[in-house]
Amino acid sequence: MTVFETRSTVLITCPRMASGILADELRALGFPVLGELPAAVKTTATLTECMRLNLFLRTAHRVQYTIKEFSAVDADQLYARVHAIPWEQWIAPDGYLSVGSFVVNNDSIRDTRYANVRVKDAIVDRIRERFGRRPDSGPDAQGIVVFLHWDGDDCTLYLDSSGEPLNRRGYRKNPCRAPMQETLAAATILASGWKGESHFVNPMCGSGTLAIEAALIALNSAPGLMRDNFGFMHVPGYDPAAWDALLDEAEAGERGELDIRIIATDIDRPTAEAAYRNAQEARVERYIDFGACDFTETAIPEGGGMVIMNPPYGERLGDKNELAPLYAGIGDFFKNRCGGYKGYVFTGNLDLAKRVGLRTQRRLPFFSAKIECRLLEYELYDGSRRQKQD
Ligand SMILES: C[S@@+](CC[C@H](N)C(=O)[O-])C[C@H]1O[C@@H](n2cnc3c(N)ncnc32)[C@H](O)[C@@H]1O
Repeated sequence: MTVFETRSTVLITCPRMASGILADELRALGFPVLGELPAAVKTTATLTECMRLNLFLRTAHRVQYTIKEFSAVDADQLYARVHAIPWEQWIAPDGYLSVGSFVVNNDSIRDTRYANVRVKDAIVDRIRERFGRRPDSGPDAQGIVVFLHWDGDDCTLYLDSSGEPLNRRGYRKNPCRAPMQETLAAATILASGWKGESHFVNPMCGSGTLAIEAALIALNSAPGLMRDNFGFMHVPGYDPAAWDALLDEAEAGERGELDIRIIATDIDRPTAEAAYRNAQEARVERYIDFGACDFTETAIPEGGGMVIMNPPYGERLGDKNELAPLYAGIGDFFKNRCGGYKGYVFTGNLDLAKRVGLRTQRRLPFFSAKIECRLLEYELYDGSRRQKQD
């Protein structure tokens, strides 16, 4: 039995406060949810099954397969215990190794980097003793990526089967200012319940992340199809044919056409053009109508759906006082133009959000980097039913 067939605990990280959505994704793929943390979900899987998780999960950052749990009182014991692990099963002597850490909280260690170096030394020393040569190592997550979690005496070593984090889908070659993380954008759309059966309108689209993720969801296109490098591909025994079979399965499940519209606009023409180029990278540009205009001029197709905006919120872009009329304008736009839709505002400024002036149906908490944010949901009634003020 190779490490690909061995079952272990798997910790899957995600944007903070998105673990409930990730847990739903896991259950839908047939995996058990063994625990939910604010920014991670625990399950159990083989490394082969981790390949599936890397391909299909939309809200996951890193699929971390547990290599070993043990105790270490100090850095020397850490080195000895790590050295005792059969690393020849995990990394080839001509491979490339990168070691990172989630948590290092041990009295003997002042600098997290020192713990990482000791782990790296233990691994490459063991490989050199067995093969007479050692893997290269460095900061790039392009080969084997090992993560350390060391809290008190309790250590866990993970193989990061993703390598580069999964939010780096690869399509955002043209970022605008203050873009949303791809996984966070997917999480907000999934949290709304939208699955591609109605129109999706995204004024203030910036680099186009929300519209691109919406297109991928509507097309049932697996986000991992856009990448050609994952950590698991560097583990000895990796079977490219098994990965190809998964890619075939993913492609067979894709929808070829959409009978809904996805619209993305931004007031800044170069930004809207960059969003289009990002959609080209993701190969979804023909499913999205891009335009450069003020958000109030965005076309709202008949039939209802989801209209979502991620306006500037004063932390990184714009000044808060200047932004108040923009938020009030969103309320007017929702009320006057978007009847029959569900409206969403994703913002890190709740004071500004109040300026929207409509009653929220739901307020879902998220984090964007360190900024606490909300996804605010508004039911926008058609015609005569009146909106109540907050
Ligand atoms: C926070 S960014 C959106 C980021 C986007 N979610 C992404 O992932 O890249 C806000 C965007 O709103 C646009 N914007 C600001 N005022 C606008 C207005 N009145 N009408 C349309 N777009 C506007 C800005 O040009 C900027 O691209």
